[in-house]
Formats: sequence, structure tokens, C-alpha cells
Amino acid sequence: MILLLNGSFRGSKSNSNYFLDLLEKELAEECERVHLNQVKDIEVLVAKIKEAGALVIGMPLYVDGAPAQIVELMETLYSQYRKEFGNLPVYIISNLGFYESTQIGIQLEIVKNWCSKMEFLYGGGLAVGAGEMLGSLRNVPPDKGPNRKLGEGVKKFAAAVSGRKEIQDIYVGPAGFPRRLYIMAAHMGWRNMAKQNKLVKRELYRKRV
Ligand SMILES: Cc1cc2nc3c(=O)[nH]c(=O)nc-3n(C[C@H](O)[C@H](O)[C@H](O)COP(=O)(O)O)c2cc1C
Repeated sequence: MILLLNGSFRGSKSNSNYFLDLLEKELAEECERVHLNQVKDIEVLVAKIKEAGALVIGMPLYVDGAPAQIVELMETLYSQYRKEFGNLPVYIISNLGFYESTQIGIQLEIVKNWCSKMEFLYGGGLAVGAGEMLGSLRNVPPDKGPNRKLGEGVKKFAAAVSGRKEIQDIYVGPAGFPRRLYIMAAHMGWRNMAKQNKLVKRELYRKRV
């Protein structure tokens, strides 16, 4: 069994969960999904990790690092359970708001270091840039249009997970969609959100005393 652990606070509606869905479609093995924000009993999760042949953690990038509930899990597993697991292969699918997936590199390094302390095998990461955009294109097939690089990345990543192989981290983003356009679209999104929240420009620039 491959344990797919969703570390996003948004749970089943998250981009992380969707990227785990894409991965699961490529895996021929039984998978079990756990949403970390629904875990009430750490012992139950620990038992599932022990049972798993591989662990895939899906999560977003938060402030260039991992979400607090993932950090907490890493600390708990290290301080209380580290002698209880074998050489478990661990893989990461991470996404971020910014366009450049390379910004996820630091988070992957953090997981790599944790894996080495846990004596887990760090299998590799799939870093997805423009996660909010690619996460919203769920009706576009994963090998088409802006999803093309994501689709290729997921296939390569799934092959590594299936074979419990170590691979170089994979960095993907929207295909054929320029960064400049992405930033323009993001700015439009912020402006609309500000409007919905009744924020006006002069309020944003107002000097506070
Ligand atoms: C508290 C917080 C911190 C974030 N920090 C970053 C960041 O450092 N860099 C970035 O590109 N995106 C950042 N984001 C954006 C998320 O990574 C992005 O929205 C992602 O798609 C969320 O994925 P999810 O739906 O799986 O939770 C942050 C979002 C939140 C809520």
C-alpha cells in the first residue's frame, strides 16, 4: 500500500489533494489517502505509515517552508517514533503560489534532512509552480495545454514511486504560459479580492502613525 498524505490545511479541496489524485491515477498499486488536518489520533497515522510500502506527502509551500502541521508531524515522528520505522521511501509533491517551482527547493531540502535523520529513503520531489493556476485547470487533461509539463512530471514521478526508486527532484510549471502573463493575472486576482473586501487603494498606502 502507498500512503498518500495530504498536508494542506485546505484538506480535500486543496491543490495538494488534486496533485495526489493525478499521481494516484498513474499508480497501479493500492493507495490510501489521509488528510492530515483530519487526523485525531497520531497512533493511527503511525500504524498506517508502518504498514505502507512508500509514503507520498502532498503539501503547499508556506513561507518558503512546510505548513505547520507537517513541521509538527516531522518533529513528533522524529522525537517519539524514529526507531519504529524501517528504511521507508518518502516522496514529496509540493506546490506554491509563485510561478517558479525552484522556490520549493528549500522545502525539499528540509524534507531530505528529516529523512536522513529518520533513516528514511528520500525518493525525490515533484515541485509544481503556479499551483493555484494548475490546480484550477482540473478539466484540462494532464498532458494538454498548460498542464503538459505537469502531466509529464507526474508520469515520471509515479514511475519512481511505483519502483521505489530514487530520482532527481522534478520541477514543473505551466507550459507555454509566460511568467509575465501569470503575474498580470495574479494582480487582477488580488485587485478583485481587494474590491470584494471593500479595500481601496489609498487605504493600502495610508501611512500609519
Ligand atoms: C500561510 C501561507 C503561506 C504561503 N507561502 C507561500 C510562499 O512562501 N511562496 C509561494 O509561492 N506561495 C505561498 N503560499 C501560497 C500557497 O503555496 C498556494 O496557494 C498553494 O497553491 C496552496 O496549496 P493547497 O491548496 O494545496 O493548500 C502561501 C499560502 C499561505 C496560506
